[in-house]
Amino acid sequence: MLTIFLLILISGVFTYSSAEQGFCSAPSSLNTVSESKPLYSKVYDSIQSPLDLQNLPGFTRSVYKRDHALISPESHVYGPLPDWINTLGAYVISPEIGSHFVMYLAKLKENSRSGLPLRDVERFIFVLHGAVAVTGAHGVSHVLKVDSYAYFPPNFEHSIESDAPAIIVVFERRYAQLPNHIPEPLVNSTDKQPLLETPGEVFELRKLLPSSLAYDFNIHIMDFQPGEFLNVKEVHYNQHGLLLLEGEGIYRLGDSWYPVQAGDVIWMAPFVPQWYAALGKTPTRYLLYKDVNRSPL
Ligand SMILES: *[C@@H]1O[C@H](CO)[C@@H](O)[C@H](O)[C@H]1NC(C)=O
Repeated sequence: MLTIFLLILISGVFTYSSAEQGFCSAPSSLNTVSESKPLYSKVYDSIQSPLDLQNLPGFTRSVYKRDHALISPESHVYGPLPDWINTLGAYVISPEIGSHFVMYLAKLKENSRSGLPLRDVERFIFVLHGAVAVTGAHGVSHVLKVDSYAYFPPNFEHSIESDAPAIIVVFERRYAQLPNHIPEPLVNSTDKQPLLETPGEVFELRKLLPSSLAYDFNIHIMDFQPGEFLNVKEVHYNQHGLLLLEGEGIYRLGDSWYPVQAGDVIWMAPFVPQWYAALGKTPTRYLLYKDVNRSPL
């Protein structure tokens, strides 16, 4: 398993350098519309309203209900993360809310380093700002920039380090084993993932993890042009943790309709009716945790 990870890391060095060129010379539609700010910077620099509502005393768009929550940036509370060095984290979703996973934002400072997840816990990271060096058990390291991600299977020794400020979003879950299916560590980037079929829907879908049975969750990247919306009014057993990376729109959760914008986090419990419409002048992109491949029983 480690050997495979090393091969992935080594091959990644080459694919990454070519991807960087592609990134500059052929920007996606997402980039052409937005201003000159760095990709996803609204997640951590998200005060856009002319009235600056977020700064009104006592005002928050955050909501916490039985089957969903909206946690907007002015409500994120950062503190030390267990075993991490020079890093502050904000847990935005945790089992206290009813989830079987945690989702947190981690702000790495100079000379920062991650701690390991708990025993039997898998970890997924996605870079929002800056760059981090990911090192596997044998010391081979790989630099992940904005829009890149890594997956670490349970009990896989690794570190995430940075010598300059960086921000990542992290998902962790106690791995649900299936006999004869072993998840592999991986590193990759969103722009390398193919667009997938979405029958009956107009949004664009990419999946960041393989769909094979070894993986008990996936991370979807979903893109909407302004005015596009979900066709299916979904109600399902899966749970979701969502980070709005770009754009703004209306999220319906149960009987409530929420104006949302980049930087917002949403918790969706199993069976909460859910629906999204992208509005505003710029495309929406969001990142979505979804548990898959396991029987609910
Ligand atoms: C990244 O993902 C693409 C598409 O899934 C795949 O073809 C490629 O081999 C992956 N790169 C690495 C370094 O794993």
